[in-house]
Amino acid sequence: MTLPFQHLTSTKQLSRDDTDAILRVAKEMEVVLRSGGDDRLKGKILASLFYEPSTRTRLSFEAAMHRLGGDVVTADGFQFSSLYKGESIEDTIMVVGQYADIICMRHPDAGSADKAASVSPVPFVNAGDGPSQHPTQALLDLYTIQKEHGQIDGLHITMVGDLRYGRTVHSLSFLLGLYKNVSFTLVSPKELTMPQKVTSFFTEKGLKYEEVEEIEEGLHADVVYMTRVQKERFADHSEYERLKLKYVLTTKHLEGKDCIVMHPLPRVGEIDTAVDHLPKAAYFRQAHNGVVTRMALLSMLLGAAK
Ligand code: CP
Repeated sequence: MTLPFQHLTSTKQLSRDDTDAILRVAKEMEVVLRSGGDDRLKGKILASLFYEPSTRTRLSFEAAMHRLGGDVVTADGFQFSSLYKGESIEDTIMVVGQYADIICMRHPDAGSADKAASVSPVPFVNAGDGPSQHPTQALLDLYTIQKEHGQIDGLHITMVGDLRYGRTVHSLSFLLGLYKNVSFTLVSPKELTMPQKVTSFFTEKGLKYEEVEEIEEGLHADVVYMTRVQKERFADHSEYERLKLKYVLTTKHLEGKDCIVMHPLPRVGEIDTAVDHLPKAAYFRQAHNGVVTRMALLSMLLGAAK
């Protein structure tokens, strides 16, 4: 099973057929993972380039490659790469493409993934480009919603927090637009509302959405998707300090509610740790799903999905 593209930079390039195929292969990868992995990517190398901090995305990409028998070469931090000396992203990617069979890259600049993909001689995957997109996170989020609820069509999704800079909610919104009758409650302070590129997309697709400021207005949902206020995107630190804990989800908020709680993580206080003990807390299961989703994507982009 293959995908009709070589590079993945944005969820806007995915069709419903693509997401159906990726979710199907991810489910198959659960079985592969439970049996300890296989060697379908033996002899293949993933270049893992992280020019911005990451725990989950980087380690789950690398674990996924290892679980399928492949190898990983890695570069992290500007100061340890030739980008620090002034090398362009394009030159870096053209060179790394001589060493590896597939590249994933995280970079602080929006648009850096498109620059990389435009020259990459091997499949390229965006692992997060500044405040713009994080397509593999959105795929694992979609897989989580499907797994937890058994369906995606017709669900009501509440997104809470930094909807302006949170790239995961941008990417996930575009994917959810592929499904029928999905509706949204967008909870944010007015300084951090969802960008117009996303709300215009909802309008174009005829998807219902409401924008509110209080978390209590969004808890009547199937999914409550919490986000961290993105400290690294603020020029004014005092503005970050003012907004960072506007929303803190507690067990009290969830009493009598029939939703699952998701978060791309890391969290920095916006979900009280007491919530972790509730069955509806899905965020660590969500992190587990990152491995199988990335196993699916790596094998499909490298022509090794069975
Ligand atoms: N969810 C996510 O992208 O986490 P990391 O920043 O740790 O990769």
